[in-house]
Amino acid sequence: MPHLADRAFAATFKHVFTFSLLYEDSEVDNRVLELDPRSRVLAVSGAGCGVAGLLAAHPARIDAVDTNPHHLALAALKVAAARRMTSHGEFYQLLGRGRHTDPARALQPLMTVLPAWIGRYWRAHHRRFRDNLYAEGLVGTFQRLLRQKVGVDADFLRTVQALPPAERLARFEPIFASLRRWWPMRALVNTPLFLLGVGVNFEQRRRNLRASRSESMMNVVTAQFERLVRTDLETNWFVWLCLTGEFNHDHPDAVPPYLREQSHKLSLVAPTRVGFHRASLQELLADGTPGQWSHFSLCDVLDWMPAPAQHRLLHRIARVGGPGAVVLTRSVEDACVVDRVGLSDRFERVEPTSTLASELERTRLYGRVNVYRVVSGA
Ligand SMILES: C[S@@+](CC[C@H](N)C(=O)[O-])C[C@H]1O[C@@H](n2cnc3c(N)ncnc32)[C@H](O)[C@@H]1O
Repeated sequence: MPHLADRAFAATFKHVFTFSLLYEDSEVDNRVLELDPRSRVLAVSGAGCGVAGLLAAHPARIDAVDTNPHHLALAALKVAAARRMTSHGEFYQLLGRGRHTDPARALQPLMTVLPAWIGRYWRAHHRRFRDNLYAEGLVGTFQRLLRQKVGVDADFLRTVQALPPAERLARFEPIFASLRRWWPMRALVNTPLFLLGVGVNFEQRRRNLRASRSESMMNVVTAQFERLVRTDLETNWFVWLCLTGEFNHDHPDAVPPYLREQSHKLSLVAPTRVGFHRASLQELLADGTPGQWSHFSLCDVLDWMPAPAQHRLLHRIARVGGPGAVVLTRSVEDACVVDRVGLSDRFERVEPTSTLASELERTRLYGRVNVYRVVSGA
């Protein structure tokens, strides 16, 4: 039954614009992937902050893949803007503040380097930048509702971020308690609409509940809020966006790395060739040839799959990547996926890198951020 539900989920999810922001800490990716000018990366795009962030390392090639055209088109826009908008001020206005007085004019020159369907997409959707890109999409809509209920502003965040974690938690506790009691939240949080809106399919929901030893997503969500409050709030762009609808524009590092001035400078001169593939990772890998990619950045798509599908995907990666290839993957669980699906003869987990990455990941959504190296492709 979960397989059927997840097939319906995948069929629906690929038509829905869910994310404007990648809910993964791409600062961690840049740190652990160790790309160089010979690297060829196959990366699941999601909202594209991670893909755009890879440009600064000047890999030879990036292939961004996603089944959801909304997310892939946004990723392509972020990449094109990082490479072509020479003014950091204008680039930041568009994608840091998420708004532009004349988005049609700003986007038009970027489209000349992108596939035709992406040009058509943005001609139809440029109004997303009229008010605030980050209030758009299903996640943006949920967060808007949450903000209306919670009523927290940037001044509140600035005040609490200076407090020690225990005091911070005490300031947030009444807010969490009111959310737990709030009937629309209680009604919504266990529905398929909520899962669609936060990009968690039924398989990953099951993993989330198992990891948190709970029967309700409400407990998963509140535990995550509590973990988030303990992070460095000043630079946690996920918290700022959720609670204020904006990044913390006072701090240059409180945005995904691709938006930072230094990274933008490097992106402007990146020699990297970038392809955008509206397909599944499985399809792209099935056609892949040995040695085609040296790095595989999977977001958390393995969490969306049952164990046999995880096995097939990792098996293909080992074949296509060959010895030395690197795989970056996130999971809401602590378990080592390679051990669980019986592929520890093909992959080794890179340590202490994986443990460090898991600790650094500031979304606090994942139990583990793991880096694996292929030891045998055959
Ligand atoms: C797995 S989702 C989950 C949310 C993710 N953690 C984020 O922050 O965006 C990320 C992206 O993966 C895409 N996706 C899921 N399964 C895929 C697959 N098998 N092949 C390609 N893309 C996939 C979704 O369309 C979505 O855009």
